Amino acid sequence: MRIKKDEWMPKEIQKVKTQSEIETFELGRSFAKELKAGDAISLEGDLGTGKTAFTKGIAAGLGINKHITSPTFTLVNSYIGKVVLNHFDVYRVDDSDELLEIGWEEYFADDAICVIEWGDRVLDILPENTVHVRFERDGSNPDSRIIYIERGK
Ligand SMILES: Nc1ncnc2c1ncn2[C@@H]1O[C@H](COP(=O)(O)OP(=O)(O)OP(=O)(O)O)[C@@H](O)[C@H]1O
Ligand SMILES: [Mg+2]
Repeated sequence: MRIKKDEWMPKEIQKVKTQSEIETFELGRSFAKELKAGDAISLEGDLGTGKTAFTKGIAAGLGINKHITSPTFTLVNSYIGKVVLNHFDVYRVDDSDELLEIGWEEYFADDAICVIEWGDRVLDILPENTVHVRFERDGSNPDSRIIYIERGK
């Protein structure tokens, strides 16, 4: 079941400030505790705002101790921890169809968690239960971020 952008309204928004890459990593690690197989998380925000740092924390929280790198060219990297983690980076994707062609649907299996950097570029193919996490710079401090975790239900 898919939803259109203008139909999605978060029921709950959690706002967190972080002051360093490590704090964003730790936020991802604690966020991972609430995740279960079948969940999808869309990470949204400008270049260099901490999406990959947060993903590294999620991976650590899922017991994955491999080095996580952004799959900007490969589109998706898969890791096996307590559950499968599929880490997408769709920055270079022009059209959602490109993802459908690489088997997008199969990655959203019941036994996997999907994290999608730049997920707001492919809102039309995100699952309905997707948690949206928005990253914003905060004022003039180069190490400050405001992170909004938006849950639909
Ligand atoms: N509070 C913070 N949280 C996260 N990263 C921070 C913070 N303060 C500074 N940084 C720096 O910002 C950069 C974040 O990089 P990261 O790759 O996580 O961003 P990204 O959103 O994934 O970027 P891209 O859009 O290129 O994928 C790192 O260089 C990191 O050191
Ligand atoms: Mg990144």
